[in-house]
Amino acid sequence: MAEKLLEAKKNLKPSFAYLIEKKRDGYEFTDEEIRHIVDSIMDSEMPEAQQAALAMAIYFKQMSAQETAKLSDELMLSGEVVDLGKIHQPKVAKVSTGGVGDKTSMVLAALAAAAGVVVPGMNGKDEEFVISTVDKLSSIPGFKSKVTLKEYVNLLSKVNCAIVEQCKEIAPADALLYTLRQSTATIPSLPLITGSILSKKLAEGCEGLVVDVKWGNGSFIKDKEQAKQLARTITRVARSMNRRCVALVTDSDQPLGDSVGTALEVKEAVALLKGEGPEDLQDLVLKLGMEIVRLAGVAGSTLSAKQTVERHLKDGSALEKFKEMIRAQGGKTDWIDNPDKFPKAQYVRKLPAPKRGYVHTIDAGKIARGVQVLATKKDGSLDPAVGITEIRKVGTQVKQGEPLIMIHYNDEARMEASLHYFRDAYRLAPKRPKETLLIEERVA
Ligand code: URA
Repeated sequence: MAEKLLEAKKNLKPSFAYLIEKKRDGYEFTDEEIRHIVDSIMDSEMPEAQQAALAMAIYFKQMSAQETAKLSDELMLSGEVVDLGKIHQPKVAKVSTGGVGDKTSMVLAALAAAAGVVVPGMNGKDEEFVISTVDKLSSIPGFKSKVTLKEYVNLLSKVNCAIVEQCKEIAPADALLYTLRQSTATIPSLPLITGSILSKKLAEGCEGLVVDVKWGNGSFIKDKEQAKQLARTITRVARSMNRRCVALVTDSDQPLGDSVGTALEVKEAVALLKGEGPEDLQDLVLKLGMEIVRLAGVAGSTLSAKQTVERHLKDGSALEKFKEMIRAQGGKTDWIDNPDKFPKAQYVRKLPAPKRGYVHTIDAGKIARGVQVLATKKDGSLDPAVGITEIRKVGTQVKQGEPLIMIHYNDEARMEASLHYFRDAYRLAPKRPKETLLIEERVA
């Protein structure tokens, strides 16, 4: 390898086979090599077989913080980088690696914007079974999520927040690489996730980033230790790119909050904006909100961050900001004033507990797949009215026959098909399980 390394130094564009071999054997890429790799993916010069081998070599041999920073930078520069220089407030986004029942992005965008932070919000990739924030908000009539980059900047200037679909001009090399990773089992690569998230968020105009790194059955990262490692990698790489970044490692083994579905989750988010809603969600909104306002410099201490978040929830300004965002994106705000306007499913039935005991575990991934079966219509679109509510969480004691969840449905066959996912998701046990932490670690 030493000879080859020397040879490659002389050669500005080393062969793809050499680059694969280099990473396979655990060596670090130079900045030029990383630029060459990204350019070759963008220009379709690198054959897919070699892209796949390279992604797998990176999966096994990792990348250093410096390599990952360079990768993030090159992926970002493969497309447009939004200039938010004319907006003078701090720009801090919250990004999640994706979890079942997570409606915090909608709430936090409005909450932080009400507190004077500009919150860039392009909705990126999630596990295919996780309903995206954009899909949830699309249950509001008129809500427009597909916008041009110019419209995105206008929304941020006017409202301070926006939740839109990822524009195709943002980090296009990452979009290509992500598609390749999906078909090569390399999604869970820590440097590739880091490069993917940072390139997009920085291209969207963020100065700082609060990352919710989820672990568990409801996330693509199943292992808690791996999530902690990802949190450390993202924060370290962001710092080396001169960006402020905090990550919370949070539990997505069971669904977050009381509901999973599209309109049902928007209704829950509206309740949160009124300072109501389930304890786990309120707790996560508070903690992530505090991180955003501190990172943005709107609050100087933990106490003032807590007071800032609580004040904007209590005085209704976060809710008003949410309505402003929905209105600016064409949605009907009377649905937010009166959530009863959201379509209701024709039928509601319970999933009865098969025996008495404590809810020991809930597999959030199976819950999500059940909801997906329940909601996906023949044409592939999602029925906004359906989903599940009143989720009995881990540690709850139930009697035989008591509801574990309430299933809202419009189609009998789809409901029947979803039942085994819901049944399989629940494990009941005679003893109360050990309490788990929603927020496992904070990495700053
Ligand atoms: N989310 C992203 O945006 N990219 C990844 O690689 C994984 C999760």
